[in-house]
Amino acid sequence: MTVTNVNLALVGAGRIGSHHARALAREVPGAVVTTVVDPRTEAAAALAAELGAQPIPSIEEAVADPDLDAVLITTPAALHAPAIITAATAAKHVFTEKPITTTIEDAHEAIDACTRADVRLQVGFNRRFAPGFAAAHAAVSDGRVGEVRQMRSVTRDPGPFSVDPAKIAPWTMFLETLIHDFDTLLWLNPGAEVVSVTAHADALVRPDAKPDGFIDTAMVTLVFDTGAMATAEACFEALYGYDVRAEVFGAKGMATAGCGRTSDMTYYGADGASWDTSRKDTDLLHTAYVGELDAFVRSVRGENVDVPGAEAGLRALRVARAAILSVQENRTISLKEIAE
Ligand SMILES: NC(=O)c1ccc[n+]([C@@H]2O[C@H](COP(=O)([O-])OP(=O)(O)OC[C@H]3O[C@@H](n4cnc5c(N)ncnc54)[C@H](O)[C@@H]3O)[C@@H](O)[C@H]2O)c1
Repeated sequence: MTVTNVNLALVGAGRIGSHHARALAREVPGAVVTTVVDPRTEAAAALAAELGAQPIPSIEEAVADPDLDAVLITTPAALHAPAIITAATAAKHVFTEKPITTTIEDAHEAIDACTRADVRLQVGFNRRFAPGFAAAHAAVSDGRVGEVRQMRSVTRDPGPFSVDPAKIAPWTMFLETLIHDFDTLLWLNPGAEVVSVTAHADALVRPDAKPDGFIDTAMVTLVFDTGAMATAEACFEALYGYDVRAEVFGAKGMATAGCGRTSDMTYYGADGASWDTSRKDTDLLHTAYVGELDAFVRSVRGENVDVPGAEAGLRALRVARAAILSVQENRTISLKEIAE
C-alpha cells in the first residue's frame, strides 16, 4: 500500500527531538523530515545531514516552506507556546512535546491559534501509546475495572542523577515530569474531573540545591468529582533504572501497567535471579514514542485518530499549576482556583 508523504520540520534538535526525528524518518511510513530547526547550528546541521534534511536556524523561515505539512516542537517547555503559534499561523499542523505550554494563558493563545488555522494539535503524552497503558485504558473503558476508586501513577528517572540542578527550569518536576502522571490519571478515569490537588515536594536527591528552589522528589494527591482518589509520585533518581507505572483500581477489578524490564528474560545464577532494567526513556518507551508519532502523521493525513490534543494538554497543565500552587502555599488547592 502506498501512503501520501507528510513533510515535517523538527523544531529543537536536542535529546528528545533527535530521537523523534530519527523515529519518524526510519519507523513511521510516509513521514519525511525535511527540515531541522535549532539555533545551535552545528546540532541542526549534524542531524539534518543524517536525515537528508535541511538545517534552518529559525522556525519562521522553516514554516515559510509551502510544501511543509507539519511541525514537531521539541524545544524547551517555555518555548512551546511561541513555536505553536508560529506554526499554526502558517497553517502547519502541530505536534508539541509536553507540556502544551507552561502557563494557562499561553495554552489558550496556542490553542486559539490552532483552532483559527484549523490545524491539528497533538501533545506528547506518549504513555497513552505504550501497549500496557493502552490495555489498562481499555480495561477501564470496557467496564472490567468498574467504577474507579483509587489510582496511582509513578515516574522515577534513571539514576544516578547527574544534571546540574541550576540547569533545570523551575517547577520542571510538575510541568515536565508529573505532567505525564496527571495526564495518565485523567485518561484512566474517563468522565471524571479533578476537584482538589495537594502536593508535597522536596530535594532529597540534591538537598544542597534546595535553598535555590530545586525540587527532585514529589508526591501529589488528587481527588476527583466522583470521589475517586489518586496519587502521582516522581523522583529524579532511581538507581535501578527508568520506572514508569500506573494502577487503576475499581469496583470490579484492577489494571496495572508499566514494567522496567528490558525483556522477559530472567537470569538465574548462584546468587539468585535477576533481570535487566531500562536506563533511558527512549529505550523503555520507544514503541510508545513511535506510536504517538505515527498517530500524528496519520491524523495529518486526515485519518480519524484518537490522540491527546488541546483539551488533554490543558487539563494536565491545570493540575500541574494547582500542584505548584499547593507547594508554594503549603495547602490543598481546589481546581476552581486555577484559571480554566
Ligand atoms: N515525552 C517525553 O517522554 C519527553 C522526554 C524528554 C523531553 N520531553 C520534552 O521535550 C522538550 C525538550 O526536551 P529535551 O530534553 O530534548 O531538551 P534539550 O535541551 O535536549 O533540547 C531542546 C533543544 O531545543 C533547542 N532550541 C532552543 N530554542 C530553540 C528555538 N527557538 N527554536 C528551535 N530550537 C530551539 C535547543 O538548542 C536544544 O537543542 C521538553 O518540553 C521536554 O519536557 C519529553
